[in-house]
Amino acid sequence: AACPAAMEQDDPAEALTELRERRLGALELLQLAAGSGLVAYVTWALLLQPGFRRVPLRLQVPYVGASARQVEHVLSLLRGRSGKMVDLGSGDGRVVLAAHKCGLRPAVGYELNPWLVALARLHAWKAGCVASLCYRREDFWKVSLKDCHNVSVFLAPSVLPLLEDKLQAELPLGARVVSGRFPLPTWKPVAVVGEGVDRVWAYDI
Ligand SMILES: C[S@@+](CC[C@H](N)C(=O)[O-])C[C@H]1O[C@@H](n2cnc3c(N)ncnc32)[C@H](O)[C@@H]1O
Repeated sequence: AACPAAMEQDDPAEALTELRERRLGALELLQLAAGSGLVAYVTWALLLQPGFRRVPLRLQVPYVGASARQVEHVLSLLRGRSGKMVDLGSGDGRVVLAAHKCGLRPAVGYELNPWLVALARLHAWKAGCVASLCYRREDFWKVSLKDCHNVSVFLAPSVLPLLEDKLQAELPLGARVVSGRFPLPTWKPVAVVGEGVDRVWAYDI
């Protein structure tokens, strides 16, 4: 036979009230913290970390999507230009897709995270943009930029000094680099658009 205490718990309203009135003990708090930590670790390991295993820690830049304003500003600084466009660390592909829609062809996104590459391809397919647009699962530090006339970056300030060296060594004359949220540390911009986190800087080679 069911015990009376369990019978009392069968009333959902009563159980909810009891739950609300209960204070968490130290052990329960510890379990909660461990549980949240585990969820955060699994999210990081499965969704954010793939692709980065061979990239030195100091060069790893986490995914943060550009804001809609930021994308608009990138496009305003690339408008009227022609030639190959690349986004170094293309995330879910929003900048590449927008640039492609504005007529920049070919448009290429380099991204290490396979989930983001798959998402970017899905967005492109849904938008009907498949020709002259591609997302490559590659480390952009290992890609030659010698034929890239339009380069977009939205990366962490810590990697930008090294990126300056790569861009300077590889980009052709007349190329334009646009950097979102953080400026290139030593280059002099030819234009700056937007405010705060949406700000974008343009540099010409
Ligand atoms: C701050 S997010 C910017 C995403 C996208 N460009 C945007 O503006 O929405 C930086 C992206 O660069 C990618 N990334 C970082 N280092 C990379 C590398 N060496 N090669 C390719 N992708 C990289 C990250 O996975 C992340 O998606």
